Amino acid sequence: MYVLYTSSSIEANDLMDINSALCFVYTWCEELRTYLGQACSWHNQLPSPDDRNSGVRLKRKKIESRATLPLIYLAKDLYTEDTEKGKQIRIIKIINMSTQELPKPSSVYASDHNPATLRTHQWRTAANSAAYLLPYLKRDMTILDVGCGPGTITLDLARHVPDGYIIGIDYADKPLAPARALAEEKGITNATFAVGDVLYLDEYADNTFDVVHAHQVLQHVPDPVRALRQMRRVTKPGGIVAVRETASMTWYPRLEGLDAWYDIYRRVARGMGGNPDPGSYLHVWAQEAGFPREAITCSAGTWCFSEPAEREWWSNIWAERVLAPSYVENAVVKGGHCSKEDLERIAETWQEWGKSKDGWFTITHGEIICRK
Ligand SMILES: C[S@@+](CC[C@H](N)C(=O)[O-])C[C@H]1O[C@@H](n2cnc3c(N)ncnc32)[C@H](O)[C@@H]1O
Repeated sequence: MYVLYTSSSIEANDLMDINSALCFVYTWCEELRTYLGQACSWHNQLPSPDDRNSGVRLKRKKIESRATLPLIYLAKDLYTEDTEKGKQIRIIKIINMSTQELPKPSSVYASDHNPATLRTHQWRTAANSAAYLLPYLKRDMTILDVGCGPGTITLDLARHVPDGYIIGIDYADKPLAPARALAEEKGITNATFAVGDVLYLDEYADNTFDVVHAHQVLQHVPDPVRALRQMRRVTKPGGIVAVRETASMTWYPRLEGLDAWYDIYRRVARGMGGNPDPGSYLHVWAQEAGFPREAITCSAGTWCFSEPAEREWWSNIWAERVLAPSYVENAVVKGGHCSKEDLERIAETWQEWGKSKDGWFTITHGEIICRK
């Protein structure tokens, strides 16, 4: 396995002619494709050997992943005007990957932050999603909320630390604009939001926060133990890492279309490299990340949607979410887990469930409080 990257000071022996360079690149991309597998959302954007013959051109894409940078720059250099005229192109350096691991993408989130997904998250409060953490909070604490999304839980937590502050970070910047707008609307001044990656947390020194919190985030990262290690690192001695993730979902009536939905939901998440329902073994991950078992307290919390307004809200959201372009892309086009028609039938079933007067839907979450 090799990684190639552009270098600003290229030496004579780094120069290759276009044919040997292309040959090398396609071989490299095959290896890269195998290495990254389906976990990589831009997996299908890598050039294939067929592209070589059909003359398909790589386009420079803005993809948020450290692992893509070498390829992006490589692609850019390969397809300059000069290369088409057959001139020498400049590549790069080659590092043997046997001693250097190529990082995988940091997020394997199957839904983007489309309006329906945002509506799901914006319903969340500290009371309905972080009640297990509230007894531990003191007025002057500092909190890092990783994967904060549109920040409704973050801003509720801010009220519990009026003499401290909270920072919400998310891998994507899209949900941070509504988060900031809500903070302003509510007049909350001890909360800030920034783009950040829980797998690195480079911006934060060791032992910085009293509490590091994640709600429904670790299920969407490819290396949750690494995330927990980072969360532990930036927590002060005596501080807390608090995590809540889905453990299971159950519903009535048992409509076949919803069984199909749950099956596809889990396959899409797993296929992308996520863990759709890790709530029952968060304490196992936490031990791998360095917390002794006796420093971890486990609990469980639920959401239940059964009242008419709750059913209408939840069913409309899911009917919309399964047909959102990014979900169709991940489930159908890239993942090959189902057809677009399957998703359309599932959307109809969600509407049917919403109209069922006895409809009931519950999500169980696992929760951990880890003391450092
Ligand atoms: C299901 S949402 C949860 C949002 C919020 N915590 C809540 O419960 O309302 C998952 C969030 O994790 C973010 N995320 C995924 N991978 C991440 C990473 N590596 N670092 C930080 N955030 C990440 C996603 O962008 C998304 O906003």
